Amino acid sequence: MRNNIALQPSLFEDYKFMDIQFPKPQYLGAKYIHSEWIAQHIPEDSNVILDAFSGSQSIGFLCKKMGKAVISNDFLSFNSKIGKALIENKNEILTPDDIDILFSPNSDPEKFNLMERLFTDLFFVREETKFLDAFRSNVDILENEYKRALAFSVINRAMTRKVTMGHFAHTQALVYASNPERVKRNRSLIRPIKDIFLDLVIEYNNAVFDNGTDCIAYNENILDLLPSISDADVAYFDPPYCDSHADYQGFYHLLETYTNYWKDKEFVNGTKRYSPKKDSGFETKREIIDSFKRLFKLSENIPYWLISYNDRSYPSIDTLVELISPYRNVDVKRKIYQFGRGGKGSVAGSSEILIICKP
Ligand SMILES: C[S@@+](CC[C@H](N)C(=O)[O-])C[C@H]1O[C@@H](n2cnc3c(N)ncnc32)[C@H](O)[C@@H]1O
Repeated sequence: MRNNIALQPSLFEDYKFMDIQFPKPQYLGAKYIHSEWIAQHIPEDSNVILDAFSGSQSIGFLCKKMGKAVISNDFLSFNSKIGKALIENKNEILTPDDIDILFSPNSDPEKFNLMERLFTDLFFVREETKFLDAFRSNVDILENEYKRALAFSVINRAMTRKVTMGHFAHTQALVYASNPERVKRNRSLIRPIKDIFLDLVIEYNNAVFDNGTDCIAYNENILDLLPSISDADVAYFDPPYCDSHADYQGFYHLLETYTNYWKDKEFVNGTKRYSPKKDSGFETKREIIDSFKRLFKLSENIPYWLISYNDRSYPSIDTLVELISPYRNVDVKRKIYQFGRGGKGSVAGSSEILIICKP
């Protein structure tokens, strides 16, 4: 990343957390793969960073490793649990006793049977959906919110490992799991969720650390949260890329349903997605320009903005720059994808964009 850090004690101090490993995410549009590039553009003298659309938390985690106080936010609960577990949490891990609690029989089968009812023979076999319901019933028994958030983060990640492509917008999970070619490429398809959990929990526990600041994770629509943010000096915006895979609730509905354990939703389509969806404001062409205008207006008192974008999204980069110009000086950085990675416009030949907005 930066040169000569060994010669500069204060920088060395800043980088003492850099070896801590972020558990590798599998999330559409995760910026994990661009961490180094993004880190180069985070001002060294900044203290408080808002990761406004934090998703898998990869950039918030990077900033926490850089010693910054991180304010993380995502409007989906399952993402925000990862924020609680790995950004806000300083020292709570899941111990063998906690795991015994989580793996105990269902503590209230009358109340906890949603996964079995909705998703048996759709994404998982009955034995697995029953296990998930029992685990979910026991999460609440853990002694504090950080342990509970860790439990959600690890079990949700285990579920994405268990389905081909790591999302729930298709109905082929069990068909793929019985295809030997696919299983050869990804053995997780046939492993029990419990075993995958036990592997992952080590990685997640190892990623819990205290960087000496108070980090915080929110679960709000960013347009509602921004008025209460007063002390951030950098905002990192990585909104859904409208017009190319912006439908996070379509892809990850099952994790959101598991985390919220909805009582007041309908479950629709072949995938049993919950309905109605939460309102993002950044998913459709109809609403996105207005949402960007509100986002920038509400961020006026955060001096420095970094915006991740893609040249296949709506609105165009030129339009976005026009919307930012009343507030900030803009510099557009570009990184070209040589190989498509799937999702969010990251097809071969398209560019990942970082828009640097300075006062
Ligand atoms: C491109 S992803 C962010 C990826 C993230 N930077 C990472 O590295 O994983 C966009 C995120 O914005 C969230 N989101 C969409 N609308 C939102 C809103 N109005 N407020 C807060 N989060 C929102 C989605 O849930 C999704 O996780």
